[in-house]
Amino acid sequence: MNLTHRPRRLRRDGIRSLVSEVDLSASDLIAPVFVDATTDDREPIPSMPGHERVPVDEAVARVEEIRDTGVEAVVVFGIPESKDARGSRAWAADGVVQRAVRAITDETDAYVITDVCMCEYTDHGHCGVVEENAAEDPTLTVKNDETLDLLTKTAVSHAEAGADMVAPSSMTDGMVGAIREGLDGAGYPDVPLMSYAAKYESAFYGPFRDAADGAPAFGDRRHYQMDPANAREATREVELDVKQGADVLMVKPALPYLDVVSAVRREFDHPVAAYNVSGEYAMLHAAAEKGWLDLEAVAHESLLSIKRAGADLILTYFAEDVAQEL
Ligand code: PBG
Repeated sequence: MNLTHRPRRLRRDGIRSLVSEVDLSASDLIAPVFVDATTDDREPIPSMPGHERVPVDEAVARVEEIRDTGVEAVVVFGIPESKDARGSRAWAADGVVQRAVRAITDETDAYVITDVCMCEYTDHGHCGVVEENAAEDPTLTVKNDETLDLLTKTAVSHAEAGADMVAPSSMTDGMVGAIREGLDGAGYPDVPLMSYAAKYESAFYGPFRDAADGAPAFGDRRHYQMDPANAREATREVELDVKQGADVLMVKPALPYLDVVSAVRREFDHPVAAYNVSGEYAMLHAAAEKGWLDLEAVAHESLLSIKRAGADLILTYFAEDVAQEL
C-alpha cells in the first residue's frame, strides 16, 4: 500500500512520549485526608480500600505518608465529636479540622486545603441551616442566606488554624463572595479560594458519606447541588464564582462529567480542578477485586482522561498509588 498518512509511526517507544499531549505528575494531585474526633485509632473505610479515618494525633503521620509518595497537597475533611442543628463544631477554634490543620502545617511541608461545608457537622446532615419542619416537608430546604455566615466563620477559622487554601463545597449561592469578604476582613487576603463551582447531585458520593458520616438524615441534596442533566448551567455557576473571586474552579464528580471539565477549561482561564470522587474510586476497586480490571492501569488511565479533558489539578483517592507509580 502506498499510504502517505500512517499515524502509527508516532506510536512507537521513543517517539510516543515526545508527542504525548498530556502528562500526569505527582504535583497535579491532591490527596483527601479524613480526620476523626470520635476515634483514638486509625479506622479503615470499608468502601474505600487503602483509606482510613485517623484521629487528630495521627493526622501528621498520615500526611507524612502522603508526602513520602511525592504528593504535595492534601484536602482535609473532619468528623466532629458532636453535631447540632447549625453545625457549630465546624467553626470551633478547637474543632477537629482546626486542630489537625494546626498540627499538619506546624510539622509538615504539605500544602493544606480545607473542605468548607456543614454536612459533616449538622445533626440533619444537610450542607447548611434547614428550614423548620424540613424533615416532614420535602419541599423545604437549606436556608441559603443564613448559611453564608456559618460558612464564612468556618473558612476564617480554617485560615486562622493555618490552612493554605479553603474549598467551599456546599453549593450555597453567594458562598464564594461571602467567604472572600470574610477572609479579607479577617486579615487573610492571600488565602486562595478553590470553589466547588459545578458540583452535581451525584450518587457517586456514596462511599464518602459513609466515610465522613455526612449523609442527609432526610431528603436529598437536589435543592442545592446541580442536576446531572445540566451541562450549560455549569458555565453559569462557574461564572458566578469567578465574579465573586474564586481562584480555582472545581468540577465534581470527574469521570461522569468530563464534558463539563472540558467546557470549563474552554470558557475560563482560571486553573481548573476536578474531583475524582469516592464512588469513582470504589467502583474500580470493586472490579479489580473481582479480577475484572487491572487497578493500576485503570487508575492511571482515569487520571490521564481527566487531565486530557482539561483539569490542571485532580483531587483523587488514587493520589498516593499513582504518584508512587510515577
Ligand atoms: C461535602 C463534600 C462531599 C464530598 C466532598 N465534600 C459530600 C457531599 O456533597 O455529599 C464528596 C466527595 C467524594 O465523594 O469523594 N459537602
